[in-house]
Amino acid sequence: MSPHDFHEAQALYKKHFHHTALHTVRAPGRLELLGNHTDYNAGLVMALAVDRFITVAAQPRTDGKIELVSSLFADSEVFPADEFKKNPAAPWADYVKGTLAQLHRRGVHFTGFNAAIHGTIPMGAGMSSSAALEVATALVVRKLFPYRLTPGGLTTAPVRNQRGALPPPSPEERLEIAKLCQAAENQFVGVQCGILDQISSLFGMAWSVIDIDCRSLTIEHAPMPGEAIIVCNSGVRHELVGGEYNELRASCESAANKLGVKTLRSVAIPDLEARRDHLTLREYQCARHVTGEIARVVAGARALRENDHEQFGHFMFQSHESSRDLLRNSTTELDLLVELARQHPGCLGARLTGGGFGGATINLVRHHQAADFITHMQQAYEKARNIRITPMVCQMVDGAE
Ligand code: GLA
Repeated sequence: MSPHDFHEAQALYKKHFHHTALHTVRAPGRLELLGNHTDYNAGLVMALAVDRFITVAAQPRTDGKIELVSSLFADSEVFPADEFKKNPAAPWADYVKGTLAQLHRRGVHFTGFNAAIHGTIPMGAGMSSSAALEVATALVVRKLFPYRLTPGGLTTAPVRNQRGALPPPSPEERLEIAKLCQAAENQFVGVQCGILDQISSLFGMAWSVIDIDCRSLTIEHAPMPGEAIIVCNSGVRHELVGGEYNELRASCESAANKLGVKTLRSVAIPDLEARRDHLTLREYQCARHVTGEIARVVAGARALRENDHEQFGHFMFQSHESSRDLLRNSTTELDLLVELARQHPGCLGARLTGGGFGGATINLVRHHQAADFITHMQQAYEKARNIRITPMVCQMVDGAE
């Protein structure tokens, strides 16, 4: 665990609650490398867990209440440990409450606790600060009130060793936690997201790409080439609760329905073209994006295996064009960032990452040209938009612990 994040969360805890927290967990944010809006279509997606985190320091308390304090918001939030209601004044706490409600529903027993939340994942940048908060919540409750979730439900809780430490959750438990956190977001927060963000935060691996098959829910890791991953945040906030995301999902689902399949994963591009007349234009566009994007992930994984970084970069550009023209979840700022990136000789590929409608781009840049790329992006974007951006170099890290 990075001493810095750990220390910040502990220090916030001590400042607010005036004693030391024994348990600390942290969950990384994620970047979607390739595969835009494929997850809820049971498709394929490549993701990276990156070195920006939500870290939570916590300790039980005896009055049956839960109190949350965050480094990013002024007011703390207090509620009974068995009552999970939204507070419009503290929407950030919904991700915690939604996760607690799901744990409660599955029979996980917990009582009151204090928690201090420290975050370094930029909010609204499409790097999944919300999923990281859900995952950190589920894991901190596991540390405070040990539980083990399996596909069949709760089973014998893990036992602490002599030093009080729990064994880390197995891959099977991690997958159940990912599903639980996704349910929190679907049911409590109200975003019909897929499972990409939660899996990425839980299954990250240093220096590796996470290859996720969202139909079989199988997760594999592949080495990520030593090129630089650079995020450019457009500065336009990305607000999934805004509804556009759910609309896209609905269009994909109605397209699948009209094509007589359970999900768009089962549709091949020639079949889609042959049956185009069955769909509205919007359904066709969404289905065309998803089918093409899934094919790109297959081809992209092959390119990475063959160390063909240039080819992989082309797929990233193509992915952006498909999101922009077919899915239509880009913005003028994201399009501009991708075009400016393309002008730089060190840039292999660039695309929007995550839900879209604002947020950030992910750029694959030749390692030795990373510093020059950052200067180019800052100057060119400032010239065009009069906004100073701070591109971030991201490292791939292990999943939540
Ligand atoms: C958001 C959602 C994910 C996924 C991406 C788009 O990050 O939370 O489930 O759908 O958008 O690929």
